[in-house]
Amino acid sequence: MTVSNENDLRALQEIGRIVANVLQAMGAALEPGITTAELDALGRKLLDDAGAKSAPETSYAFPGATCISVNEEIAHGIPGPRRIKAGDLVNIDVSAEKGGLFADTGASFAVPPVTAAVERLCRDGKRAMWAGIGAVGAGKPLAGIGNAIGEFARKGRYTLVRNLASHGIGRSLHEEPKEIATWPTRSDRRMINEGLVFTVEPFLSTGAEWATDGEGEWVLYSEPRAPVVQYEHTLVATRTGALVVTLPG
Ligand code: CO
Ligand code: CO
Repeated sequence: MTVSNENDLRALQEIGRIVANVLQAMGAALEPGITTAELDALGRKLLDDAGAKSAPETSYAFPGATCISVNEEIAHGIPGPRRIKAGDLVNIDVSAEKGGLFADTGASFAVPPVTAAVERLCRDGKRAMWAGIGAVGAGKPLAGIGNAIGEFARKGRYTLVRNLASHGIGRSLHEEPKEIATWPTRSDRRMINEGLVFTVEPFLSTGAEWATDGEGEWVLYSEPRAPVVQYEHTLVATRTGALVVTLPG
């Protein structure tokens, strides 16, 4: 969607704050022994308390309120009986709707104790996201986002997963502009218009280049197998840059 008035912006910021708070609370609850179903139940309760509805559940009949992906899973992990262990790398993705507006946020968490390499990957995954967000502005090319992230990844000798793109959001979870690359691209000539609402969510890795399907319907795995992190914000493009709406508060 394109935000054109104060009311839309305030409503978007409200659902943005809700998903950010839920993500933060789920991250804080992450500890060895908890199951991903228990984590998801916490997320569901907090969404419910805030008057919001899980977007993957209502939009796609996803079997969970949130996506929780552990280690070899990189996205769309299904909450269930799996118990979190020390050293796990866990991605939590929270998207929800309230009053007809959608917001989407995600983060990877390393459950201590973790190796220095995984700690570095998490730190740099956030930096990669911010490098992309820094390229956002009304009148700028959409491809600038992926090019900025690609430059960051290249300097740190990381790889980027090249088939999980960022996306427009607002009136629905996934809408135009679709397939916003978070890796270098030359073919995309689209420009960012003022008020455009979309996500920036690079998948940074120490070796993975692709997300591949497994046996089931939902879960995506890294190819080649390597640790992957994802950090995601929903934002509004303004003349002075990105206005991030998925901030806790
Ligand atoms: Co997401
Ligand atoms: Co998203």
